[in-house]
Amino acid sequence: MRWVGAAVFLAVLLVPATGTGSGSGTGTGTAAEPKAQRGTGTGTSEGVEDIDVSGAEVKPPPAKPSGLWGFLGRLHPLLVHVPIGWLILLALVDLGGLAIGYETLERAGRPLAIIAALSCLPGLLSGFARADGVAKVSAALLLHRNLMIGCTVLVAAAAALRYLRRLRFTRTMRAVYALLVGLATALLVIGAHHGATMVYGEGYLF
Ligand code: HEM
Repeated sequence: MRWVGAAVFLAVLLVPATGTGSGSGTGTGTAAEPKAQRGTGTGTSEGVEDIDVSGAEVKPPPAKPSGLWGFLGRLHPLLVHVPIGWLILLALVDLGGLAIGYETLERAGRPLAIIAALSCLPGLLSGFARADGVAKVSAALLLHRNLMIGCTVLVAAAAALRYLRRLRFTRTMRAVYALLVGLATALLVIGAHHGATMVYGEGYLF
C-alpha cells in the first residue's frame, strides 16, 4: 500500500505543473511567456489591459552595419559618456583653478585638458560608425555631428594653448582658454541634447 500512497502523492505534485493551468487567462501559453502575450480575448486578462496600437507609428528597427565598424557604432551610447565626464570635470576644475585661483586645481587642469581632448576621439569615431547604421540622415543628426566636431576642436585648442603656453599663462591667455573651455562645454550640452533627441524624441533637454 506504500507505493499507492507514493503514486497519489506524485500525481498531486505533477498535475498542476503539466496541466493546462487553472488561471483566468484564456490563452494556451506556457508559464514562461509574459502575461501580456497569454490572453487572447479582448478586454482585460489577469489584470493586464489590452491597448489598441493599430494607429501607432511603427518605426523600423535601426539598420545595423555588421563587423567591427557596426559594433563600434553600437558602442556610441556607451563611449559618449567618457568625454561628457572629462569635459564637465575639466570645466569644474578650471572654475576652481583659474576663476577662484586654487593652485592645486590649476595644476590639475593641465593634464585634464589633454585627457578631455583625447577622450572625444572614441566618441567621434563611434559616432561616424553609428551614423552609417541610421536609416535616415536627419537635421538633428547633422547638427549633432557638427556640434560635437566643433566641441572637440575647441577642447583640443584649449589643451594645446594650455600645454604650449604653460610657462607664460598670462591673463589674456587665461581668458581665451576659459572662453574655449566654456564654449566647448556649451557645444557639448547642446550637441548631446540633439543626440538624445534622435533617441528619445523632440524636447529632450530644452
Ligand atoms: C565627442 C563626440 C560625441 C558625443 C559626446 C556624442 C554624444 C551623443 C549622445 C549623448 C547621444 C545620445 C545617446 C543616448 O542617449 O543613447 C548620441 C547619439 C547619437 N550620436 Fe553622438 N556624440 C558624439 C559624436 C557623434 C558623431 C561625430 C556622430 C555622427 C557623425 C554621432 C552620431 C550619433 C547618432 C547617430 C546618435 C543616435 C544613436 C542611436 O540611435 O542609437 N555622434 N551622441
